[in-house]
Amino acid sequence: MCGIIGYIGNKQATPFLLQGLRRLEYRGYDSAGMVVIDNTNFNCIKSVGKIDKLAEKLKQTKFTGNIGIAHTRWATHGGVTIENAHPHFSADGSIVLVHNGIIENYRELKDFLGNIEYKSETDSEILVNLIAHFYKGDLRIAVESALLKVRGTYGIVVMHKDKTDCLVAARMGSPLVIGVGEGEYYLASDATPLLAHTNKVVFLEDGEIAEVCRNSIQTYNLKDEQIVKCVEQIDWNDEQAEKQGYENFMLKEIYDQPTVYKDAIRGRINLDEATAHLGGLNMTPEQMKKVDRIILIACGTASYAAMVGKYAFERLAGIPTEVDVASEFRYRDPIITENTLVFGVSQSGETADTIAALREAKRKGAYVRGIVNVVGSTIARETDGGTYIHAGPELAVASTKAYTNMSAILLLYALQFGRSRRLSIATGERICKALLEIPEKMQSILDNADAIKEIALKYKDYKNCFFLGRGSNYPVAREGSLKLKEISYIHSESYPGGEMKHGPIALLSDDFPVIAIMTKNQLYDKMWNNIQEVKARNSKVLIIATIGDEKVKDLADDVIYVPDTMELLEPLLNTLPLQLLAYYIAVALGRDVDRPRNLAKSVTVE
Ligand code: F6R
Repeated sequence: MCGIIGYIGNKQATPFLLQGLRRLEYRGYDSAGMVVIDNTNFNCIKSVGKIDKLAEKLKQTKFTGNIGIAHTRWATHGGVTIENAHPHFSADGSIVLVHNGIIENYRELKDFLGNIEYKSETDSEILVNLIAHFYKGDLRIAVESALLKVRGTYGIVVMHKDKTDCLVAARMGSPLVIGVGEGEYYLASDATPLLAHTNKVVFLEDGEIAEVCRNSIQTYNLKDEQIVKCVEQIDWNDEQAEKQGYENFMLKEIYDQPTVYKDAIRGRINLDEATAHLGGLNMTPEQMKKVDRIILIACGTASYAAMVGKYAFERLAGIPTEVDVASEFRYRDPIITENTLVFGVSQSGETADTIAALREAKRKGAYVRGIVNVVGSTIARETDGGTYIHAGPELAVASTKAYTNMSAILLLYALQFGRSRRLSIATGERICKALLEIPEKMQSILDNADAIKEIALKYKDYKNCFFLGRGSNYPVAREGSLKLKEISYIHSESYPGGEMKHGPIALLSDDFPVIAIMTKNQLYDKMWNNIQEVKARNSKVLIIATIGDEKVKDLADDVIYVPDTMELLEPLLNTLPLQLLAYYIAVALGRDVDRPRNLAKSVTVE
């Protein structure tokens, strides 16, 4: 939800700011802007649309300076216009800011500031004027005074035209990372833009303000007390954040899956004891034994990975497990006891709804742990333990490899809990072996991409479709449906196969196809009956089936075959053809698959 970026050092700021905006474009892409200070003048450039538009404008102008800030926007307050694009200036033109987040009490602040002629409809412009109101020669103090009056969320970077040797950054609820270089600092909403320049970073925490000068950085809290921050090392590299010859990030990330899945399980499976070991859980064996309920909190794709975890926790460990969509959990006074274990599942680790729900669970006394991809993200830091999923940078807006790795980590947790309870060594061993066989099987699905592409072309012109699955394949249906709708804009819904007859079947006709995930498991015969009901309504049927299942051709118009695995592990394989199907349909329809309309990758507003 908006990306912010900043630079101070001895080099020209523009190349880093522009490259950084491209890296952050997944966070929002309706407009963009940049300001650099040249002597004591602000140079400002803005454009509506994607970063390429800004890049075009930059080519036509001289834009020099070695201190600057930039922003890529996902509109919240105010429409998509040049005026609403960041950076925003104070009315007297002396201070400029980029802001990610929402100022909730902006009306109150506007009244407080009185008669100011605003150029935009944004809450951010009110904030920069508030900072100007408090400015008495020290920018950090002015920012601090302003923020004491603010309610809401912000990641901000601020510059004053007379202070050409420092930037001020602050955060509350919206992430901000400072990269430490040699005599230079890089600021960004996440670490990916920094990777080409440094792997040393300082993560700002909520309520912290940093004064970033050319040769030093000092951090304070909102009480004006100085704080000592650690410089941390991140192990992602720049290459991981490149397309590496793929047409776009989504395709690259789909193909990353066999490799990053191995990264997720590496060192975490103990074949001798037929179990998994995830050290980050930070619970004693006694505490683990007492857990009588698990709640998995997540949004979107992460919540479908959580469903994979639910089935596994219940089946393997016998622990009642719920999946709660974060935005619902928080406001319904959830029941939590001291033996409730809550996992927050999130790729970005910055999803506002998930963070808020986890805080609520913590307040109510649950064990709260994170299953997160982005190292050092808010959820990773605020939870009392958990596990990184090691998917590497995921830059396409539609999540693919993170889903797979979240599912994998949840399966490992279920195995670990299961083995510490009732699960036999024989079953544990079977699961470990099956988990280890997954990468090769994933690769065989990816190697079949051309056949999937051909099928995609047959389905691309439908306006609606259903995804159906039962048991372990129900989360697969949900995820397949979400992928298709978000990148192709085709209307699609997902249901458990058995639910069709309770209403949705009324929609079926010959121009309403059904995609059924129907691999050989205990619910195969039930799904068979459900799909026969579909066929009777003349719908076209595409079936994801197990290799060797020839009989399924009697039922299907088209079949995509996947390798066999244990039922609980099926989502690790069966989701991949659906990712490819959505991808090829979207490409055939000419969509921008990496940056679908109306979406942003990291949803840092409620
Ligand atoms: C869909 C998608 C979203 C995210 C959701 C949660 O492809 O990417 O549904 O899964 O916004 O994001 P994280 O996992 O960052 O908490």
